[in-house]
Amino acid sequence: MRDVAVIGAGCTTFGEKWNVSFRNLFVEAGILALEDAGLAGEQIDAMYVGNMSAGRFVEQEHIGALIADYTGLASYHIPSTRVEAACASGGLSFRQAVIAVASGMEDIVVAAGVEKMTDVASGASVDALTGAADREWEGFVGATFPGLYAMIATDYMNRYPLTREQLALVAVKNHYNGARNPIAQFQQEITTETVIRSALVADPLRLFDCSPITDGAAAVVLAPLERAREFTDTPVKVLASAQASDTITLHDRRDISTLDGSVAAGRRAFELAGLSTADIDLVEVHDCFTIAEICAIEDLGFCKKGEAGKLTEEGVTALHGSLPVNTSGGLKACGHPVGATGIKQVYEIVQQLRGEAGRRQIDGARIGMTHNVGGTGATVAVHILGV
Ligand code: COA
Repeated sequence: MRDVAVIGAGCTTFGEKWNVSFRNLFVEAGILALEDAGLAGEQIDAMYVGNMSAGRFVEQEHIGALIADYTGLASYHIPSTRVEAACASGGLSFRQAVIAVASGMEDIVVAAGVEKMTDVASGASVDALTGAADREWEGFVGATFPGLYAMIATDYMNRYPLTREQLALVAVKNHYNGARNPIAQFQQEITTETVIRSALVADPLRLFDCSPITDGAAAVVLAPLERAREFTDTPVKVLASAQASDTITLHDRRDISTLDGSVAAGRRAFELAGLSTADIDLVEVHDCFTIAEICAIEDLGFCKKGEAGKLTEEGVTALHGSLPVNTSGGLKACGHPVGATGIKQVYEIVQQLRGEAGRRQIDGARIGMTHNVGGTGATVAVHILGV
């Protein structure tokens, strides 16, 4: 196996992008990543595109081919493959690209993600997202994603000492970080009151406990580490790539407020990298709802079960805490274009490790982690990157 490095990264702004088409969103991110790597399209050997549900959101399938055509890669017959794993589509597209380069099959590979979610009414987007759960056992009986994560939150709060205020502080922190990120969908800081007084979505989760509906695209370029300096002075090495599965329904789980897929993927990533939680300078976790960040911090091993609320309250996970979590603003404030999120997480870590994160820069960051979840944890991708 060869060592792999990220040699370029690009991301569109996230938000409601009425004036940009699905394909042009992707093209924008792709161009930014290629420019960053100083590459021309014809130098690419392969491309993987994470996308959850373009068929439902923009009535378009055959995404690999569409994107290859509109990025000009089709004229060189460069292979382009769609990767789908619900909200973990981006994380898995990154992993497919890592595997392609590590195996020696391909040299220069683009890993990207794109989703355009705001072209349908809000009920339709909620229904499309429900396709990431088990339609027969969960969707058809009325469970939505906010509903499923509300069940996780209720179970968690019954068993562990997490207060409503501590849960709200996850959103407060992520909005603080988002307000320092020029690509973020929400750039305003909020208070605990904002969260607690916002509209109830699925008890106990309120509007500001939820990630929003978002349009956006992100892309990164990978190369074998031994060739990385042909393209950039600041290659970011992929130290580990891990993926795990779990049951698709919540009711089949051993424990609904522990995501065993996160536990397994996290352990495997640390094992592959030969590192421990103490080595991680910052982590982007999948905070599709505030409770998801609480579970992720614990399931990845950064603290014991039941302690993440206290950690958040003490500021450990804040921008300048000892373990900054979601410096990008996370899914909550940066936004969550589902197929693109896993790549945006990598983009954030790359920016941080290169010292290019501006007002949210973590001084001396050398090792970062990403954690991308599909559904309520049926697919999990964890990556560790370092300089
Ligand atoms: N956080 C903060 N503000 C939000 C928000 C969020 N998550 N979602 C919407 N808003 C704001 C909008 O900006 C808008 O503000 P404005 O009136 O000042 O312009 C207002 O709330 C109403 O927006 P709207 O789009 O009508 O909200 P909605 O009620 O249709 O949708 C949710 C709100 C929470 C239901 C929707 O964002 C949602 O389903 N989120 C979860 C997405 C999800 O499940 N993703 C997959 C996870 S695995």
